[in-house]
Amino acid sequence: MVRVCVIGLGPIGNRHANIYAEDELADLVGVCDKLHERADATAARLGVPAFYDVETMLKALAPDMCSVATGGYEYGSDHYLPTMQALEAGCHVLGEKPISNEIPQAVEMVAKAKEKGLCYGIDLNHRFTPAYRLAKRWLDEGRLGTLLYINMSMWIMNPTESSPYFQLKALHPHTVDVMRYYCGDVEAVQCFALKAPGRKIWSTAQFNMRFVNGVVGSLTGSYDIERGHPMERCEVAGTGGRFVVDDMWREATLYPAGNLEKIVYTNPVFGGILDFEDTFRNRIHRFLEQVNEGADPADIDGSGEEGLAAQKVLAAAIESLENETVVYIE
Ligand SMILES: NC(=O)c1ccc[n+]([C@@H]2O[C@H](COP(=O)([O-])OP(=O)(O)OC[C@H]3O[C@@H](n4cnc5c(N)ncnc54)[C@H](O)[C@@H]3O)[C@@H](O)[C@H]2O)c1
Repeated sequence: MVRVCVIGLGPIGNRHANIYAEDELADLVGVCDKLHERADATAARLGVPAFYDVETMLKALAPDMCSVATGGYEYGSDHYLPTMQALEAGCHVLGEKPISNEIPQAVEMVAKAKEKGLCYGIDLNHRFTPAYRLAKRWLDEGRLGTLLYINMSMWIMNPTESSPYFQLKALHPHTVDVMRYYCGDVEAVQCFALKAPGRKIWSTAQFNMRFVNGVVGSLTGSYDIERGHPMERCEVAGTGGRFVVDDMWREATLYPAGNLEKIVYTNPVFGGILDFEDTFRNRIHRFLEQVNEGADPADIDGSGEEGLAAQKVLAAAIESLENETVVYIE
């Protein structure tokens, strides 16, 4: 069993803590939030000690791993300090997305995990569904032939008005991660965005991309669309076929080239994904499995390095938006 602590106890940290409390690979040993009432409430609910300071908890409990579910400005400014503290103390870390709202800090976090030889994952939970996994298998088996294009979109309602780049930095770690999962590193990006009526932030955006392998892609994202209908779609096409994944887990369809019979995976009624929370369960369980098996940190599924790569694409998109240019990524 992996001895786990959770740092940051907003709605998402509480979700992490609940999942660890239920997962047979985890032993939730402590929780921490600067806000005493938040730490106390989670601790009382789950029967573990509460802490209000990360260093104190790390010294007292010496956990094997920590979830860092802090947020902050652009949902990412508070991850750096507790992540560095946990890594310094020798803990594996599963951090929330975005890895950080600042690239130099994310670079340091990834470098620290590497220096310490520790597993560092990001909660890029969208890719951890049976439908996305199956589509990845189709691709790895060569059933798409030579890849040609990817179209990705994700649209939800988030009325928060903070940084002008909140939507770009906080929503798109997920979409860019899924795109990189299928098509690899992004070479160049161009982005247009708009502010929906009454909004002050770039709340809807359109990206054009080219990947290092030559694949071309587009990404549409929005914080302006009411919930209730579908919210995510990914289409990947190649010379041998094309697949579409609807709503992360709901359906994956393979359209083989030259064959009018399509293959459809539908989320099963029994044993399928019940709701968005299950994507967290799957992601967290996979990280626990890898830590438990003593996986090589370089093999972490949804790693800090991947979280950083996604954030670099988003930083390039913001530069493109500001300067109306195509931006090439290092
Ligand atoms: N993976 C997903 O699908 C998904 C979905 C929504 C949100 N998120 C991410 O989850 C994170 C948390 O979101 P939230 O809505 O729960 O945020 P929140 O602001 O409600 O909670 C964060 C908590 O962290 C605490 N905190 C910050 N720094 C701390 C520190 N150094 N030590 C102890 N406590 C500290 C704060 O006091 C706060 O209670 C964000 O980064 C967000 O982007 C992920």
